Amino acid sequence: MATDFTEETAADAVIESFGPDTDPRLREILTSLVRHLHAFAREVELTIPEWEYAIQFLTRVGQRCDDERQEFILLSDVLGMSMLTETISNRKFGVATESTVLGPFHVVESPVRSLGDNIDLVGTGTPCVITGRVVSVDGSRIPGATIDVWQANDQGFYDVQQPDVQPRTNGRGLFTADANGEFWFRTVVPSYYPIPTDGPVGELLIATGRHAFRPAHIHFIVNAPGHRPLTTHMFVAGSKYIESDTVFAVKKSLVADFEEVTDPALAEDGPAAGRRLLRQLLDDTRARHAQRQASGQAVLGLHTGVPRLDGLLCGLSRGLYLLAGPPGMGKTTLAIQIALHVAREVPVVYASFENSATNLLLKVLCVQAGVNPRDVRRGFVAPEVLAAAGVALGPVLDRLDILDGDGRLTVGHLRGRVRRSLAAQGAPRCLIVVDYLQLWAKTSRELRDLSDVRAKVDTLGGELIALAKQLDSPILALSSQSRAGGAYGKGGGEAALDSFKESGDLEYSADVAMFLTEARERKAPPPASALDLTVRKHRHGPTGTVELVFLPERGLLREETRPM
Ligand code: BEZ
Ligand code: FE
Repeated sequence: MATDFTEETAADAVIESFGPDTDPRLREILTSLVRHLHAFAREVELTIPEWEYAIQFLTRVGQRCDDERQEFILLSDVLGMSMLTETISNRKFGVATESTVLGPFHVVESPVRSLGDNIDLVGTGTPCVITGRVVSVDGSRIPGATIDVWQANDQGFYDVQQPDVQPRTNGRGLFTADANGEFWFRTVVPSYYPIPTDGPVGELLIATGRHAFRPAHIHFIVNAPGHRPLTTHMFVAGSKYIESDTVFAVKKSLVADFEEVTDPALAEDGPAAGRRLLRQLLDDTRARHAQRQASGQAVLGLHTGVPRLDGLLCGLSRGLYLLAGPPGMGKTTLAIQIALHVAREVPVVYASFENSATNLLLKVLCVQAGVNPRDVRRGFVAPEVLAAAGVALGPVLDRLDILDGDGRLTVGHLRGRVRRSLAAQGAPRCLIVVDYLQLWAKTSRELRDLSDVRAKVDTLGGELIALAKQLDSPILALSSQSRAGGAYGKGGGEAALDSFKESGDLEYSADVAMFLTEARERKAPPPASALDLTVRKHRHGPTGTVELVFLPERGLLREETRPM
């Protein structure tokens, strides 16, 4: 005979009733659902009137659904369930643009439109041009990708909400990216708006003292064969409710500045592809030409402050620069020196995983003051020395953003932080330092699903390459060397390309691979030591060795000055 149905046995009774042929995933989901539902009812001691109310409420939710309204999705949205599901499904996709909710207004098929078309069919509101580029996670462009767009008008209504006011398909369009993966269209700046509150979900918001508003945004679904589709929004920076979206869908990386265009020609023409590229090229050429005229010198990438290295590399340009070497060889010291030099001109974002931000700042101040951090820790350095170094660094310190790296840091966060630095300083590019790559890859929660350390390092490296392209900036990634390849147990390491620790092919995909090793041929008067900085791989130019001397008492590296 079956056991009595009790509070304790209820969930098991239901779960045991599932037949042996139940689909395994369905069984898993229903088992968990029943357990959580029963636990919930027991926890809140659900009464019969409350249960009846819930049934009536859900019935009314269903009754408010039709071909153009989906009250169940709305309910899921305001309970945070839509965003939670989105976030779970998309947590593994590293540098990819972040996704967000679909929402209930993608109910009408978007009309096919040509690049440059206006999706605003009414003519009120502030006109604007949206441009974008569809790229794969490896940074390659995706020609022919489709971009499905829909948005509310400048009054905060979708076409389907105002059938008598707005033409059908107002604010909607299906575009196809051009041969460069680029797309652009015209529209009006959308307004923030309330989600529909005339149904049971509105009652729920009122009963819980919540507002019903969403910040201004444009919806996108991007599709391309062989790629995961992306459902996302572009939020209007500064919009009301950007901090309190009622459906919890704002992600910082999705907030875009809608810049006012004051050049009438640009505002009139819109960015037709060829003309836009030509304009960018001319702007760039104008800036380089002016720079060369002003300085009288050839225009290089960002100067590292190590003249022979700059000679070899032509400065640091967009791309991934790996700096490898055995532990304790001075990679961080060199990276700090380069960072300080670059920060004279443009922002530097330094993600420090091995040292805390405070510790790294100490090293920065020591490099400037020419003292050894060990001496500071042992109390041999007066605080005035560090304070003076801080004063001497002045604006350089303001351009240096040191980030306490840990496993929670994602490439997306780093990108956001860099964008903030660029915006704050009004700079077109910057230097990003990752200190160091293997430590980030190993501890990264984002990469936790990859069991193999090599795969983690290679994946992170690939994401950094894409990031460098997106930000048009160099990334200097410090890397440890494997004991076997680098043979650093026996000496000061070897500049061998296959000696990057725990990496499959990173050294081959990076733009530049450099090694900091003990010099074999040179000696420096103790306590100084002679080091070689060897550029072993350089995708766009020559390789070679820069001779350095490490001065431990001053905590810095300088170029060897002996006659060549
Ligand atoms: C929307 O953005 O269209 C939307 C999303 C969630 C709930 C209501 C509207
Ligand atoms: Fe919307």
